[in-house]
Amino acid sequence: MPNIQQYNFTYNDIHNTIRNTAKTIAETGFEPDFLLAIGGGGLIPARIMRTYINRPILIVSLSRYSDETGTAPSSQPIKLQWLETDIDLTGKKVLVIDEVDDERTTLEFTLQHLFESHPGAEFSAFVVHNKKKEKKGQLPEQLKHFFVGEEIEDYWINYAWDADNIDMFGK
Ligand code: G4P
Ligand code: MG
Repeated sequence: MPNIQQYNFTYNDIHNTIRNTAKTIAETGFEPDFLLAIGGGGLIPARIMRTYINRPILIVSLSRYSDETGTAPSSQPIKLQWLETDIDLTGKKVLVIDEVDDERTTLEFTLQHLFESHPGAEFSAFVVHNKKKEKKGQLPEQLKHFFVGEEIEDYWINYAWDADNIDMFGK
């Protein structure tokens, strides 16, 4: 019997969720100038979103691990790669994309730092999945929009891109 305390989201599930959200975003009249992926989990969702919102993709990359062995989790994410300092986002609307809003730590950290480093930009965020739970992090007040693909229970998610054997995924 399958373990119902987990979700398996296939590439098709994720693609459809993003397509639906892109429709919702269009209906609000919000038109970003850039998509900004939070690596690694936001990379594939951002690329799928570009199919519907055809804007250039910027990338920041974070790590939750403080040492090179990758075994010591840090309380705060660590910036591995950030935006080029010479990119001018003044007056630009940026849609920040991640796969899941779990404890909200990554999202809070990333958005706070983006607002600090690019005060003239307007930031919104999109997560494919939001876990309905008490969050440790908070969304900054200046965040313009927060779009959620799907509100889900606080269960572990298996994403297709983590599958060892993609042909057996979800079966
Ligand atoms: P959040 O701020 O986005 O809520 O993430 P949080 O820091 O709470 O989560 C820590 C890491 O755990 C994140 O990965 C997040 O994507 C991952 N995570 C949380 N819940 C799940 C889940 O149900 N399934 C899977 N597969 N991952 C989950 P990260 O440190 O950002 O790593 P990366 O994969 O983006 O490189
Ligand atoms: Mg991540």
